[in-house]
Amino acid sequence: MNEKFKVLSNGAKMPSIGFGTYKSGSGDETARIVKCALDTGYRQIDTASFYGNEVGVGKGIKDSGVNRKEIFLVTKLWNNDHGYEKTIKAFNESLEKLQVEYIDLYLIHWPNKLNSETWRAFEYLYEIGKVKAIGVCNFKVGHLEELRKSAKIMPMVNQIEVHPLSSKNDMLNYCNKNNIQLVAWSPIMRGKIFSNEVMMNLSEKYKKTIAQIALRWHIQRGIIPIPKSSNEERIKENLDIFDFELAKEDMKVIDSLNEGDNVSVSGIPENTTYLDLK
Ligand SMILES: NC(=O)c1ccc[n+]([C@@H]2O[C@H](COP(=O)([O-])OP(=O)(O)OC[C@H]3O[C@@H](n4cnc5c(N)ncnc54)[C@H](OP(=O)(O)O)[C@@H]3O)[C@@H](O)[C@H]2O)c1
Repeated sequence: MNEKFKVLSNGAKMPSIGFGTYKSGSGDETARIVKCALDTGYRQIDTASFYGNEVGVGKGIKDSGVNRKEIFLVTKLWNNDHGYEKTIKAFNESLEKLQVEYIDLYLIHWPNKLNSETWRAFEYLYEIGKVKAIGVCNFKVGHLEELRKSAKIMPMVNQIEVHPLSSKNDMLNYCNKNNIQLVAWSPIMRGKIFSNEVMMNLSEKYKKTIAQIALRWHIQRGIIPIPKSSNEERIKENLDIFDFELAKEDMKVIDSLNEGDNVSVSGIPENTTYLDLK
């Protein structure tokens, strides 16, 4: 198995770790860290129209000199852009800001009452080749099953909050059964995992940092983590996770930290029309 990629249900190859860019700072600062991530070897960049940094991300990609074809670029549709026509418009705005011809993975950022109409636009963008894969974020099983009723193509990815304190086992099983790739946002809990004693002990045992232990745990569960950092050393550190393996019993030790699906480092944005589905 090639650990560096996951193959999506449509055959697209998605790098098994990505670079997050939420709260990446000003345009220049965003460009700097995206270039740094690409120079370091990341090949998946995660942004969103909501982050307001697509121009900086596009600049970072250009500055890096890395061939566009080598980069797996992810962006997302924000909550007030749902609906068929609005989706197409928002998508074209993202392309313009990012200065690219296509997106590798386009995601619905949060579930919404207009999911099925929005998804029709996603399917259209996929069919005409403007996006190479389509998916969702923050969907529960109920949202995915509701979408199944009208979808021609099921989402290839679900990007949700996953970390050792909220391991989302049921969603992982559902995704595995349904050939949906799970992606973990806040994979290192925005740093809040670093005071955990179990993680400290594992860090000591493997001579790896707590961030690396957590990221390695995601990889071994078959989940794609997308850690964000603005610091060159930490950007490097977070990618340096392919030279060691957590033993089965240590995976279980981390699994045992799970406190349930509702443990969150951020929560749902205020203006989210969230369907109350399980
Ligand atoms: N779909 C969604 O609804 C959704 C929601 C939230 C996030 N996301 C995506 O997921 C990405 C990652 O999530 P996140 O940014 O919330 O959280 P995260 O990646 O778990 O944590 C980022 C924080 O941890 C620090 N950090 C990073 N690496 C570190 C290391 N090795 N040692 C110590 N501290 C470290 C960073 O600080 P420094 O920058 O100073 O290193 C930053 O404050 C986002 O950037 C975004 O792209 C998606």
